[in-house]
Amino acid sequence: MLAIIAALEDELSAIVAAARDEGEICSEKVAGVTLLHARLAGRDVLLTLSGVGKVAAATTAAVLAERASGMIHVGTAGGIGKDVNPGDIVIATELLQHDLDARPLWDRWVSPVVGKTRIPADAYLTAALAGAAVGAVAGHRAALASLGLDDPTVRPGLIISGDVFVNTAEGSAKLRSELPDALAVEMEGAAVAQVCAMAGIPFAVARTISDRADQDANVDFPAFLRKIAAPYARDLVVGALKVLD
Ligand code: ADE
Repeated sequence: MLAIIAALEDELSAIVAAARDEGEICSEKVAGVTLLHARLAGRDVLLTLSGVGKVAAATTAAVLAERASGMIHVGTAGGIGKDVNPGDIVIATELLQHDLDARPLWDRWVSPVVGKTRIPADAYLTAALAGAAVGAVAGHRAALASLGLDDPTVRPGLIISGDVFVNTAEGSAKLRSELPDALAVEMEGAAVAQVCAMAGIPFAVARTISDRADQDANVDFPAFLRKIAAPYARDLVVGALKVLD
């Protein structure tokens, strides 16, 4: 059974609303994590929230690792790659914890538990999400335009995670200079990746870009969440589930 993890309540609600059309949803609470047993795109799934930050996300993923055969994680992120802008979707090819630094014991960014800096996402789940992302972007052009967002793109690449909301030009410039190929920064994906790597479970992560990780609030976040990020989350998940075996 696949598990679907959403970062924010609004994103989970959009996914749950789609699942309600397919049948009853049962709720179970395990170690403080609420798991929703549902049907979506004709398959049994577990739906849950990661919460915000790596500890919350790792806790959720650890609970799911006991029950799920794969995980799909969706949410928002700040764009730090060149030309990665609000309304775009970044599909993780690999994930790294940018605030993990156990030097001099291990090299910077190495997760000692998995023995590497970058954890690759599962190619099959990632390809399904990438296809769904193209559909999500195409399906929401009018809503994007209403927020002044034109020409959204879907980009595969490195997503970095840390326990900090990056909202200064200095903060994002530092990350960009240290990790020049990073496309997006958020607070949970690499934690889910680490738990899945430890458990040997395939996973994929897709992030809707909500900001440029600097002080320019160029998008009204509540409106963006309601009009773009939540519908994208639903379309990403449903679209991916439809093409998976
Ligand atoms: N999630 C959405 N935008 C973010 C940012 N700028 N930094 C960290 N996490 C985010």
